[in-house]
Amino acid sequence: TTNRTFTMIKPDAYADGHSGSIIQMIEAAGFKVKAARLLKLSAEQAGDFYSVHKERPFYQDLCNYMSSGPIFAMILEKDNAVADFRKLIGATDPAKADEGTIRKKFAKSIEANAVHGSDSDENAALEGKFFFSETEIV
Ligand code: CMP
Repeated sequence: TTNRTFTMIKPDAYADGHSGSIIQMIEAAGFKVKAARLLKLSAEQAGDFYSVHKERPFYQDLCNYMSSGPIFAMILEKDNAVADFRKLIGATDPAKADEGTIRKKFAKSIEANAVHGSDSDENAALEGKFFFSETEIV
């Protein structure tokens, strides 16, 4: 069934001018952009967004990195959106990402890995709400 996922183009990919290419890959894979917003997170907002990772050793670095520059936040819609989007972006670690995936093409490291993708329908809904109100989903 048609459902939604949430993504962010991360600061390194935005800064390097890859937003257009990444959105092109997303649309070519059959996803519809339902909401989009360019913004810069504060370190606190990044900390809130990634609070599930609070106890992980990379948490502080991640918050600094995710608040280091603009990000492109989007809600995407497609059949089987969460799983299909994770396939399209590839493994978290770009060294393990398959050919043809967004991370294989654009990720620089396990942290600066170009894009975020929700890992479940439940998190997709929560993450979408973090950035967008119902009236901003078109
Ligand atoms: P993301 O899919 O957005 O979810 C958590 C993020 O933490 C991940 O992408 C990376 O940007 C970052 N990260 C940094 N180090 C690690 C690590 N060792 N394992 C997983 N994620 C990491």
